[in-house]
Amino acid sequence: MSKIVQASDATLKLAGTILRSGGLVVVPTETVYGIAANALDADAVAKIFAAKGRPADNPLIVHIAAIDDVGPLTKHWNATAALLADRFWPGPLTLVVDKSDAVPSVVSGGLETVAIRMPEHPIALEVIKSAGVPLAMPSANRFMELSPTRVEHLDAEVLEKVDLVIDGGPCRVGVESTVIDVVDDPLRILRPGGVTRAEIEAALKRPLSSTPPNARRSPGMYARHYAPRAKLVLVDLLEPGMPGLTFDEAGPGQIRMPLEPRAYAASLYHALHQLDRENPEVIFVEIPPMDADWEAVHDRLRKASA
Ligand code: TXA
Ligand code: MG
Repeated sequence: MSKIVQASDATLKLAGTILRSGGLVVVPTETVYGIAANALDADAVAKIFAAKGRPADNPLIVHIAAIDDVGPLTKHWNATAALLADRFWPGPLTLVVDKSDAVPSVVSGGLETVAIRMPEHPIALEVIKSAGVPLAMPSANRFMELSPTRVEHLDAEVLEKVDLVIDGGPCRVGVESTVIDVVDDPLRILRPGGVTRAEIEAALKRPLSSTPPNARRSPGMYARHYAPRAKLVLVDLLEPGMPGLTFDEAGPGQIRMPLEPRAYAASLYHALHQLDRENPEVIFVEIPPMDADWEAVHDRLRKASA
C-alpha cells in the first residue's frame, strides 16, 4: 500500500493506531498540512523535529478536537482564552497559555507556555479523535521552506520520514493559524494568520498590542521563513518576462493572484510551489495592498523574501 491514502473509516483508524504507537502522520487542516505525533509522547514528538530539520527551541502547537481537551494541557485557562476559543474554535486561531506538567517540554521548546488550537478540518478532527490523544502538529514542510497546502507539495524527505499521509485535497485557508499570546497583557499576536487582527479585536472589544513580541515569548519568529527555493523579490509591478505573481493579466511564467486577501492567502503557497518547480533564480511578487486585512500575507511575503 502507498503511504498516501484518502480518508476512510479504515485509514482514520490506522492513523489513530500509528499515532498511539509513537508514529508520524501527515494530516490536512484548513490552514496547511501538518505532521502529527502524540503530543504527550516525548519520543514521538522528537521524531517531528528530525523529520522537519527544525531547531529544538521552536515549540509546536498542540491540536485538540474538543474544548474539554484543554483542561489537562494548561494550568490556567483565563477568561480571554475562553472567550477566544468560544468565538474562533474550531478554526485557524492558536492560543498560547500556561502549560501543565502533562505537556512534555520538547513540545514547548522549554517554555512554560503551550500553544493550543482546535482545527476546523473534518479530517484533522477525526484523526485527533481516532488517536484519542492531543496531537503536536507543525506545518509539514522542512524547516524554513514553504508549507504544503496540497499533498503534491510534500518534500521527499518528509514523505520518507512519516508513516502515513492522509490526502484531504487543497487547504481552504492556505496560510497558517494566527498565534496569539493570551498570558501576557496587553495581548499580542505572535504570528498573523487565518484569523485577522480586526476579527480578534472585535471579539475582545479592545485593541491588541501592535508592538512586535520579544524573542523569548515567540521563539519561532525567524526573519527568513516560508520561503521557496528561488530568491523571492517584492516589486511594485511585474514586467513581461519576469517570473512571478501579478494582480494583472499573467504572461508566460506568471500567475495572476486575486485582489482579495483571503483568496490570495488561499492560493499563495500553491502559486509559489508551482513557480518554484520551474527552478527560476528569482520569483518576483507584486506588493499587495497595505491594508490591515493583508497582514498575514505581508508577513509571509516579508519572511520569504528575507
Ligand atoms: O495552522 C497552523 O498553525 C499549522 C497547522 C498544521 O495547524 N501549524 C503550524 O505549526 O503552523 P508550526 O509549528 O509550523 O508553527 C507554530 C508556530 C511557530 O511560530 C511557533 O514558534 C509558535 O507557533 N509557537 C508554538 N508554541 C509556542 C509557545 N508556547 N509560545 C510562543 N509561540 C509558540
Ligand atoms: Mg511552520
